[in-house]
Amino acid sequence: MKRIGILTSGGDAPGMNAAVRAVVRKGIHEGIEVYGINYGFAGLVAGDIRKLTRRDVGDKISRGGTFLYSARYPEFKTKEGQLKGIEQLEKFGIEGLVVIGGDGSYMGAYALTKHGYPTVGIPGTIDNDIPGTDFTIGFDTAINTVLDAIDKIRDTATSHVRTFIVEVMGRNAGDIALWSGVAGGAEQIIVPEMDYSIEEVADSIREGREKGKKHSIIVLAEGVMSGPEFAAKLEEIDNFHVRVSVLGHIQRGGSPTARDRVLASIFGSKAVEVLKEHQEGGLCIGILDNKIVVNDIIDTLENKKHVPDLELYKLNEEISK
Ligand code: ADP
Ligand code: F6P
Repeated sequence: MKRIGILTSGGDAPGMNAAVRAVVRKGIHEGIEVYGINYGFAGLVAGDIRKLTRRDVGDKISRGGTFLYSARYPEFKTKEGQLKGIEQLEKFGIEGLVVIGGDGSYMGAYALTKHGYPTVGIPGTIDNDIPGTDFTIGFDTAINTVLDAIDKIRDTATSHVRTFIVEVMGRNAGDIALWSGVAGGAEQIIVPEMDYSIEEVADSIREGREKGKKHSIIVLAEGVMSGPEFAAKLEEIDNFHVRVSVLGHIQRGGSPTARDRVLASIFGSKAVEVLKEHQEGGLCIGILDNKIVVNDIIDTLENKKHVPDLELYKLNEEISK
């Protein structure tokens, strides 16, 4: 393979730039030209493609967001969109594509693979919800951003002896809530993967007060319901004077942590190696039990499911009261 393409797609994640940098520099090191595609699959279909040099990726490792831009482009779900994308890649002489993104973006790569075009997926999303990997690029930065917010909220919650609901991202997954909740000492963590009872949540706030707790922090994954909705349910049970903080998109920005930069660099470099060796089919890079792995993308998306570390949920139940 002499020429490969790279795009970032879906929700951006800190560390995507570090991954693009690694792909470009490793590619050049291996004698492969790397072409950047702007705006994810939208730019692919539009042919918004140019060659990337070493210098194009200089000064990018520390930056959040993605300098290749990203997009939500539902038109790529159509066969017409996918074939147009392949046509553009062939027009530029690009023989394989690296897709950095979340589970939706992986579906785009999977579609190209099913049309016979070689792809490699790199897991990049703050949600950490991709099958075939324990961690995705951006997750570590996001949970540290959330942790910083929880620590600040705890100060004011204690001063006023208040209950706070901190709504965090994770469209369908509880990973951000679980990790930031345990790290932040949250009294309760509410995630889509575990049932909860609003009465039990209320009881535990009351019990905490009786035991002398000065605050109650509930970390709520957005996939369950919104913070204001959850607060309304609690207020129906008792007059808790709940405050809600919806952290929103600050979780997606910021300079990537060392861990995310290193993960991105390893994933990016590995993606080039596997594209060089495997000229057909679709693969995806991951880290499982602290080892870098290369999975088949079709098998991963069809047969594997992401499950967060629910031991953390159990642990928090035991140590947060
Ligand atoms: P993320 O990758 O962060 O999960 P999305 O779910 O929005 O974000 O997906 C990003 C993009 O991937 C979509 O806008 C679309 O272009 C492409 N995509 C998503 N699902 C599919 C699919 N089933 N087939 C082809 N492309 C898809
Ligand atoms: O997929 C990443 C994510 O940040 C989710 O956690 C969140 O629900 C969603 O993207 C928000 O997407 P948008 O970019 O459309 O605001």
